[in-house]
Amino acid sequence: QLFRLEDYRPTDYLIPQTSLVFDLHPERTIVRAVLSVERREGVNASQPLVLDGDELKLVELTVNGAPLGDNGYQATPERLEIAELPEEDRFTVEITTEINPTTNRQLMGLYRSGGVYCTQCEAEGFRRITYFLDRPDVLSVYTVRIEASKAEAPVLLSNGNPVKSGTLDGGRHFAVWHDPHPKPSYLFALVAGDLGFISDSFTTRSGRKVDLNIYVEHGKEPRALYAMDALKRSMTWDEEVFGREYDLDVFNVVAVSDFNMGAMENKGLNVFNDKYVLADAETATDTDYAGIEAVIAHEYFHNWTGNRITCRDWFQLCLKEGLTVFRDHEFSADQRSRAVKRIAEVKTLKAHQFPEDAGPLAHPVRPRQYREINNFYTATVYEKGSEVVRMIRTILGADLFRKGMDLYFERHDGEAATIEDFIKAFEDASGQELSQFALWYEQAGTPNLSVSYDYDPAEKTFTIELEQSLKATPGQSRKKPMHIPIQFGLIGSDGKDIIPASATGAEVTGDVIHLRKRRETVRFTGIGTRPVPSLLRGFSAPVTMASELPQDDLKFLALNDSDPVGRWQALAKLLSGVLIAGVKRVRGGKPPVIDADIIGLVGRIAADETLDAAFRALCLTLPGESDIAREIGSNIDPDAVLASREALIKAIAETHVQTFASLYDKLANKGAFSPDAESAGRRAFRNSLLDYLSVAEDNSSRAEAQFHAADNMTDRAAALGVLVHRFGDETSARDALAAFEKRFGDDPLVMDKWFIVQATRPGAGALDRVRALMGHRLFSLDNPNRTRALIGAFATANQTGFNRADGAAYNFFADTILKIDPENPQLAARLLTALRSWRSLEPVRREHARAALARIAGAEKLSTDVKDIVERTLG
Ligand code: ARG
Ligand code: ZN
Repeated sequence: QLFRLEDYRPTDYLIPQTSLVFDLHPERTIVRAVLSVERREGVNASQPLVLDGDELKLVELTVNGAPLGDNGYQATPERLEIAELPEEDRFTVEITTEINPTTNRQLMGLYRSGGVYCTQCEAEGFRRITYFLDRPDVLSVYTVRIEASKAEAPVLLSNGNPVKSGTLDGGRHFAVWHDPHPKPSYLFALVAGDLGFISDSFTTRSGRKVDLNIYVEHGKEPRALYAMDALKRSMTWDEEVFGREYDLDVFNVVAVSDFNMGAMENKGLNVFNDKYVLADAETATDTDYAGIEAVIAHEYFHNWTGNRITCRDWFQLCLKEGLTVFRDHEFSADQRSRAVKRIAEVKTLKAHQFPEDAGPLAHPVRPRQYREINNFYTATVYEKGSEVVRMIRTILGADLFRKGMDLYFERHDGEAATIEDFIKAFEDASGQELSQFALWYEQAGTPNLSVSYDYDPAEKTFTIELEQSLKATPGQSRKKPMHIPIQFGLIGSDGKDIIPASATGAEVTGDVIHLRKRRETVRFTGIGTRPVPSLLRGFSAPVTMASELPQDDLKFLALNDSDPVGRWQALAKLLSGVLIAGVKRVRGGKPPVIDADIIGLVGRIAADETLDAAFRALCLTLPGESDIAREIGSNIDPDAVLASREALIKAIAETHVQTFASLYDKLANKGAFSPDAESAGRRAFRNSLLDYLSVAEDNSSRAEAQFHAADNMTDRAAALGVLVHRFGDETSARDALAAFEKRFGDDPLVMDKWFIVQATRPGAGALDRVRALMGHRLFSLDNPNRTRALIGAFATANQTGFNRADGAAYNFFADTILKIDPENPQLAARLLTALRSWRSLEPVRREHARAALARIAGAEKLSTDVKDIVERTLG
């Protein structure tokens, strides 16, 4: 079934109140739902009430307390249609269903994870619990009573505030929760189990004392402390930066180990993948810490952007996700280094969203149609959605942006809103018209900017010619020009920005050029010497840029741009140029030639003590194999890409071995581990030096020493990476893997790092290793984290291993997808997107990949999730 945005219609009935009673049993849970139903004005009583279900078993049904005749209703596992309804416009429907949380391996609805009952209802999981109007524009006030065995589930949680609890016969007990805030069903949650917890509290600006609890597996409580700290910082930040306060007496977070996504913002009861809660120095890397901070913030921020104001329909998903990602990005930027954070965002966007936009799965930030909504929790909706919000701020400026946000909250609190509502709030707050800008929500694909420059010394003018283009994407062949905000600077030879006397042509406000037409020219006057232009500072728009800037200017920018993002972009551009030229030479049977200047530049940045260590680490990390492949765009040979990249690493390493060695020693850990951004940056820098040094020294002893001496997971995992990826067949690597397994073998979350490092070891041999690791006692295709660590990492982060020229890995991958699909379609569909760029491979691999996709497409029984992805991918 195809769902279309233009088909939206409000429901005939509303459910202002919902009361649920859960009688929890592992295999036979009884759910009694009492719905107060209201017929909307103008709707006839002959209009049936049609509720959604999914694999449900109806046990009992009454309307206003009385059972219905056989013709009064029709029930299937997927649908409950009630035709026999009272004349009066308010009535009560009572529905009893039976569900089995134990056999629910889709991890949608009510399921069990490690013996803990938990729920995931977004997007359409609530209908797996009871029949309901399971759509985001039906808001209801929930009261939930949970009954369970006291031994099995001493902790009983749901949304809102606790009302009462007590003991029942037969070793059972109960708890009642009430959430006063009307909410859509996708925000419902229930957790019941034997869990440990840590508690803290937060007092809001207006004096509400909020109890904070984080529930985890017994024994893991100390590992939740960082998440708690991040939560309190998030609560403070949202008050200070967006003026948003929390609105219940409790805020609960629960970590579970079987979870399809990162986490879920259920009102007052966030449920998390334990990967985004648990951390300590022993077991978590700095990246893990940063991920926890970001996801804790993200889910907390949803309380206003998602929960208080929710989405009218799932086409508006970016209304909450893009906006909330923007908010968590800003939070992390304020907690850490803004520039470093921004560069990391740009890298993520380019690595995940650009390929989506360039391939068969491309879709607008606000899609117009879908077959399976689960497949639209994408980098486009989330990350590009966030970039679109960022551009609104760039265009309006911080003050008007905040005014617009305030107006949006004021107008739509308690509502299910649309992107139009969101944009209108900014238009009304600023007096500016944003209709052309709104195309960012409608047109898929990454716009490309072509830029050329001209300096006229006689006239003292500097001219920038800009042209935008946007390729066709599925379902959209012709595109309109967009409003692209281009933040810029004109840099003088002293490295300082030149302030032009005036600008004509395209509109310029402050340091932003507004490109609105297909082609536009800006002429700056009063420019005494030829400047070096820095365009797209701060990565002000999610576009690609082809500029005719000479190499020397790029080198100048890499050293002198006052915007660190601009410096990094210039360096990345130079490095990509070398790498792409190298790929050509390798494919022509010649060794790459490498510009000594660029090697020198990398060394200069590495040794520049005025720069953040974290920034230097980013500069030392060369564009990845998939970045290079993306920039080449077609006819990709991953082996040649790897060879070119390795040649550049070797050249840099050999040139700078001495500098790098002394930096490596100087940056050694002093004192106890701290996950703060500065220490993390220092470790990131030192660990990138370790890789170069191991290449230059052609010897594993440095990595070996670091591995065994490490007092934290960041340094240990980095050393393990170098050992396995560079010295994989040597005893040092085997010993390190064995030592790691011995130490962390009963902690699956930590062992995911062990799976990942092996799954991503380059080369054709990876497939056999991955196959063997599937037999490891900790591995299970049932668990999404394990599956992503081994299969996901192999398919997305091992270009040469996964894209073996003989196609064997694609075949293995197809088999694996078909094995996962019947159990967990969402997981299978998500993994399968790893093949989305198959058309850009060289012909032999391309044909193997196509055949594997076709085999999946032809399988006897496919979920709607996988069917949707495979059909769109094949095109
Ligand atoms: N709303 C969640 C978040 O981004 C994601 C949940 C998505 N779940 C799903 N089954 N598609 O915070
Ligand atoms: Zn979200």
